[in-house]
Amino acid sequence: MSTTVKDTSAESEPRFPLPPYKSLGNEALAERIAAVRAAYGKELLILGHHYQQDEVIAHSDLRGDSLQLSQMAAASSDCRAIVFCGVHFMAETADIVANRPEKLAERDGLRVPVILPDMAAGCSMADMAAIEQVEAAWEELGEVIDTSDVTPVTYINSAASLKAFCGQRDGIVCTSSNAAAVLEWAFARKRRVLFFPDQHLGRNTARAMGIPLEQMPVWDPFADELGGNDRAALEASRVLLWKGHCSVHQMFTEQHVEQFRAKFPEIKILVHPECPMEVVDQADIVGSTGKILRTVEEAPAGSQWAIGTELHMVNRLKTEHPEQEIHFLSPIVCMCATMYRIDLAHLCWTLENLQADTPTNVIEVDEEVARWSLLALERMLEVK
Ligand code: 13P
Ligand code: SF4
Repeated sequence: MSTTVKDTSAESEPRFPLPPYKSLGNEALAERIAAVRAAYGKELLILGHHYQQDEVIAHSDLRGDSLQLSQMAAASSDCRAIVFCGVHFMAETADIVANRPEKLAERDGLRVPVILPDMAAGCSMADMAAIEQVEAAWEELGEVIDTSDVTPVTYINSAASLKAFCGQRDGIVCTSSNAAAVLEWAFARKRRVLFFPDQHLGRNTARAMGIPLEQMPVWDPFADELGGNDRAALEASRVLLWKGHCSVHQMFTEQHVEQFRAKFPEIKILVHPECPMEVVDQADIVGSTGKILRTVEEAPAGSQWAIGTELHMVNRLKTEHPEQEIHFLSPIVCMCATMYRIDLAHLCWTLENLQADTPTNVIEVDEEVARWSLLALERMLEVK
């Protein structure tokens, strides 16, 4: 199976022209962006992930977590172009679902281009599992355990090729909001799970289901043999965790939690499940960006929160909920540098290219990869 992804390499794309875009102020850029949006109306959908900076969110038609945004993209019937202000794997997922066979049939074969304003907006966690590494791990595992009794589960924060790998092997995708239900689904079918790329989401979810740590060896793709494990550890495994993590959420520590609890006895700790286990264990509430948002929205005025997720989202919650006391869980800046690459200059550039009929930064997933990925995504959507 080919795992190439068409038209997504920075080399094959026109370079972002620094002047004039970078030299324009935000006000001028905002006017030009608004002009393109007005010209397109409902035919253009600009999606903004919760981690985007405020200036970008201001131009987004819809704001949401990674899965919600792709579902919104797929549900829209008027839209003829999507600009995804998020990171690469999100734009890939949007392309897969928005251009799936029945959607293409509804539009007489017309593809909806999905545009990522800056091709360098990747996800360091997704990059920690390359398809070649996962294929090699699967083969090596097969020398020790029966891989027909293993369900591969990929976090949605992964390249389309990994979703396709799961699609082909009775596997499935999960998000931060449905990981527990997906693991239940997997264990109802097979004895073990290979979970990639985020070890923390895998560990936090499996532990909450009662699986002991001894049954969760970590597979290091750079180890010389067996992912750095002995045969006995693999034979005893229920969940094989991939050695990947989010560099943003990895920064939160249990000391941060202790410091807040000591200073504010009433405070509630609200964190994303990509945080390390020691942090999640001490938190009051754990959930996706969507759940974090809803929790704050629904809380009574005067609630105190220390939130462990990306900085831009926490700062926006502070601004939008002055009736609550919101703190960032870490004393140091934890922002997603790749999300932050999407700025008004890149947004304006890609929108004006689209309008000039020379779209740039179009994410188009290889047809076969998309087909298998869709299967793994559809399995996930059926899990309640
Ligand atoms: P959500 O799916 O919760 O939006 O998370 C995406 C992400 O990248 C978190 O780091
Ligand atoms: Fe990836 Fe972490 Fe950024 Fe989320 S916050 S997009 S997991 S690097």
